[in-house]
Amino acid sequence: MVAIRAINLSDAEALKDLYASIIEEELPYILKNAIPSAEEEVSFIQSVLSHGGMIFVAEDKNARLIGMITLNRLVHPQMMHRATFGISVLHGYRNLGIGKQLIERATCWCVENDVCQLSLEVLATNPAVGLYRRLNFIEIGVNALGLKVNGKYQSILTMAKEIV
Ligand SMILES: CC(C)(COP(=O)(O)OP(=O)(O)OC[C@H]1O[C@@H](n2cnc3c(N)ncnc32)[C@H](O)[C@@H]1OP(=O)(O)O)[C@@H](O)C(=O)NCCC(=O)NCCS
Repeated sequence: MVAIRAINLSDAEALKDLYASIIEEELPYILKNAIPSAEEEVSFIQSVLSHGGMIFVAEDKNARLIGMITLNRLVHPQMMHRATFGISVLHGYRNLGIGKQLIERATCWCVENDVCQLSLEVLATNPAVGLYRRLNFIEIGVNALGLKVNGKYQSILTMAKEIV
């Protein structure tokens, strides 16, 4: 049983642990970043919320934070109808439909907040592309020079879904 809820500032430590766990997997299709401190996570949460965005978290039956989706709303008045997202589910909890549930909750938030396009950037090699396609995201762009890894370029897709 998984519960999806809006984030609280008190989730910063658990959010940091989730992010650290993803970074430590060294997945070839995830950007290499430093592990943030809990204080940096607090600033991150405050920044997303203060710019009109939202973060939803998924908790297991023991209230362990096992997934998250960040919705970044564009701030320019002529672009406020758009939001982008980032998503993570803890290793060991994948392929159980939690990612789908998080994206569906995010889609409801878009409806509630007059956001009519949800989009993301994803490395073309990420198996998550299949999940996004299944949830009706379509490719609206390909940047063949999107990322440089060991001197080789990798494509980044922009995928988007119109929210009606
Ligand atoms: C992408 C992610 C959030 C999906 O969460 P999830 O709870 O496993 O998603 P669901 O159970 O709803 O759907 C499973 C789908 O995700 C795919 N998937 C994507 N990345 C995966 C991974 N690293 N391991 C296992 N499955 C993955 C599965 O292949 C499956 O696709 P399919 O239905 O087309 O076969 C999760 O796999 C994850 O956190 N991956 C690592 C971080 C990441 O890649 N984030 C997205 C960056 S754009």
